[in-house]
Amino acid sequence: KRLILVGPPGSGKGTQSPIIKDEYCLCHLATGDMLRAAVAAKTPLGVKAKQAMDKGELVSDDLVVGIIDEAMKKPSCQKGFILDGFPRTVVQAQKLDEMLEKKGTKVDKVLNFAIDDSILEERITGRWIHPSSGRSYHTKFAPPKVPGVDDVTGEPLIQRKDDTAEVLKSRLEAFHKQTEPVIDYYSKKGLVANLHAEKPPKEVTAEVQKVLS
Ligand code: AP5
Ligand code: ZN
Ligand code: ZN
Repeated sequence: KRLILVGPPGSGKGTQSPIIKDEYCLCHLATGDMLRAAVAAKTPLGVKAKQAMDKGELVSDDLVVGIIDEAMKKPSCQKGFILDGFPRTVVQAQKLDEMLEKKGTKVDKVLNFAIDDSILEERITGRWIHPSSGRSYHTKFAPPKVPGVDDVTGEPLIQRKDDTAEVLKSRLEAFHKQTEPVIDYYSKKGLVANLHAEKPPKEVTAEVQKVLS
């Protein structure tokens, strides 16, 4: 399947992705994870992206479309994919359509992680991530077995620089202004499935499975 996950910061996209990926054996591309890796490695891309990310603003369409274009060439992404955090502007959505058209394919489904803004601050400020895998934990909702340590690798967890209440405000503003129109774009094509993203993780997973079955 060719899937897009869309929703505000903290809505659970990154939490559900690995579960969907394991079940449907797809390639999982998260532009946020890829950009954070580039920032950490101080690549030219990372240097360009860092400022916008730290402020909670979107990185330019050209940079992000370039990353996705490159990543989608991987053999594992030929049969299907999950895009987490892309497209986030209507321009990105149009570019993706063009990219897929060239390959004679199209998007199958857009999972909309619908949730009220008021829930998101607690989710974001309590999040701890394992940077190399993108796995996320939450001090209250999804604690690791050992505090501050990744369950799988035993490596240390970190907090994201943009996971503050202050930067969250800008990220939410970017979501409502620039990304909600993307949901309308796909709604007009009849591709959107709305999830109740405020429910506990397992219930959200069940909703996802229902939509995809
Ligand atoms: P990105 O990394 O994509 O961040 P985001 O969209 O803000 O989303 P998050 O990762 O914060 O939320 P999530 O939905 O994955 O939540 P999670 O599952 O971890 O982007 C970061 C930045 O990169 C952007 O600001 C931008 O600058 C740039 N960027 C990226 N893509 C771009 C693009 N296409 N164009 C331009 N710029 C781009 O869950 C959050 C927490 O809640 C976790 O602790 C989790 O354990 C917990 N949780 C999850 N689900 C539940 C639940 N059901 N109940 C209770 N707790 C839960
Ligand atoms: Zn995420
Ligand atoms: Zn809105």
